[in-house]
Amino acid sequence: MNVLEAIKGRRSIRAFKNQGVPAEIVEELIDAARWAPSAGNIQPWEFIIVRKPRIKRRLVETALGQMFIEEASVVIVVCADEERSSQGYGVRGKTLYCIQDTAAAMQNIHLTAYSLGLGTCWVGAFREEETRRILKIPRGMRPVAIIPVGYPAEAPTARMRKSTSQIVHYETF
Ligand SMILES: Cc1cc2nc3c(=O)[nH]c(=O)nc-3n(C[C@H](O)[C@H](O)[C@H](O)COP(=O)(O)O)c2cc1C
Repeated sequence: MNVLEAIKGRRSIRAFKNQGVPAEIVEELIDAARWAPSAGNIQPWEFIIVRKPRIKRRLVETALGQMFIEEASVVIVVCADEERSSQGYGVRGKTLYCIQDTAAAMQNIHLTAYSLGLGTCWVGAFREEETRRILKIPRGMRPVAIIPVGYPAEAPTARMRKSTSQIVHYETF
């Protein structure tokens, strides 16, 4: 599958089959993530792999009842190391670069998963402090997204996108 096919074919998946995702595949996803670009090559990302049903259930709660998180074979929680980015780039590192860096890493995960026949969803709606407590995430590290990963049990149609003419500006805004 080429990159454009992956970019255009990927969908958010919110229903999963009861089929396990092997550890080697999860490793492949994390390997793809670590090749993302990052400001100053700081690589301020950390990944928590959750498989235990008990912890997944607590993640559903912290994510405002998004039940499909629990259905997924594995859940990857992506954290941004604000501390390390701020050491390199001050406020801009903490508030912007580490978010951009981890977003790029996450997109690599979504696209790679799709190319391997897996489904994922980018879950951003969750209570951070509660998530921090559940997963014992240290201070200075910000949980930025939850990614349920599993074999898709749905094939959603593409959601509408703005046309290029709506979003492009030439020379000035
Ligand atoms: C920052 C961010 C946060 C999101 N949070 C959620 C979420 O909490 N729950 C959810 O079901 N989808 C979430 N999504 C997925 C979007 O709803 C989805 O990407 C968008 O509707 C476009 O659909 P598509 O991914 O199938 O192309 C989030 C996406 C992003 C980028």
